Amino acid sequence: MFLTREEEDMLNGVYGDGLGKAMRIVVGLGKIENASRLIEVKSAHISGVSYSNIGDEGLEFLEELASLNVKVRIPTTLNPCGIDLVKWRLMGVDDEYYSKQVKVIKAYEALGVKATCTCTPYLQDNVPMSGDHIAWSESSAVIYANTFINAYTNRESGISALASALTGKTAYYGLHDDEKRKPEIAVRARFKVRGALEFSVLGYFTGEVSGVRIPLILGAYPRTIPEKKQFSAGLSASGSVGMALFKEWGKLETVDFDRDMFRRVVDDLSVEDDFNILFLGCPHLCLEEIEEIARVVKGRRIVRGKEGWLCTSRSVYAQAFNRGLVKIVEEAGFKVFVDTCLIVSPLKPIRTVGTNAVKTAHYIRSMHKANVRIAETIALLKGVLE
Ligand code: F3S
Repeated sequence: MFLTREEEDMLNGVYGDGLGKAMRIVVGLGKIENASRLIEVKSAHISGVSYSNIGDEGLEFLEELASLNVKVRIPTTLNPCGIDLVKWRLMGVDDEYYSKQVKVIKAYEALGVKATCTCTPYLQDNVPMSGDHIAWSESSAVIYANTFINAYTNRESGISALASALTGKTAYYGLHDDEKRKPEIAVRARFKVRGALEFSVLGYFTGEVSGVRIPLILGAYPRTIPEKKQFSAGLSASGSVGMALFKEWGKLETVDFDRDMFRRVVDDLSVEDDFNILFLGCPHLCLEEIEEIARVVKGRRIVRGKEGWLCTSRSVYAQAFNRGLVKIVEEAGFKVFVDTCLIVSPLKPIRTVGTNAVKTAHYIRSMHKANVRIAETIALLKGVLE
């Protein structure tokens, strides 16, 4: 692989051990992928932040890296961690977990990373421009950025995104190359797909049938931010691609997505009629979703024995707070958390979860061993209100 003089120096530790370590990761991955060279990236977004996911080994790795006095070279944001860093007691988290999670955040901050802790950085905190090359590792955000912003990123791991953040580089391969951003399979919607849930299921179905092939979607296009978020998250949960396309293309193997397919996906993942905790905010809620929730719950209360979690980013929370929306939903008995989500939190045991996101259903079953009811947002809200 061709390396510039500066890149060689980074690799050889001329700029310090921390940068040398990061460069070895970037170059090593490039060699595995037969990349011809490195390119500069404009931003990074790092997953692997929850202490529940990275544990003591991850924390030690981050603290050791931070002790090498190395800093990120490009704007870099973080995915959700295990707790709301302010309202963590309300989540029922113990002091030990809190202190471990804070150490993880502090280690990232020592590396110069912005502790945004959201999976929707593209909404406000870290917004790429069309054509930007970036190194992101939250799979739903990767799909959103490639598909709806026309940014260029591979589906990075937390470690490789961190290495790119520290070096400002990534290897030129995969979705950084226009030649590799071509569809190999088409999914044709056979009914009018609308709303976040239907796009979530379309994304999930598409991931199931496309596997590693970039899919082309025919007959449907998500117009709103919630629809785009949910399509991206659904596709990320079942498939291993980093993008989809929605434009006209030549002839391709085509799979139909009809009402029966929609029902099959929902029925496969959704086994409960009732649920004890409602979780909305996967991916993190945008302002228009909080507005919709506030409209429905205003002046009402959650029934005794049920819980409602709304998860969003700090920046969207601030806007919702200023508009009085947080007050409305909290008066109705909902808990509004930032920095975290139900999936990456240590919350246990969870019995049954109501969700409008197929990604939540997918992971709540595998990671928390809980059962799920999938439905539209308004139907779910009505299911918890007096
Ligand atoms: Fe975000 Fe958690 Fe869903 S990180 S995409 S809310 S699983």
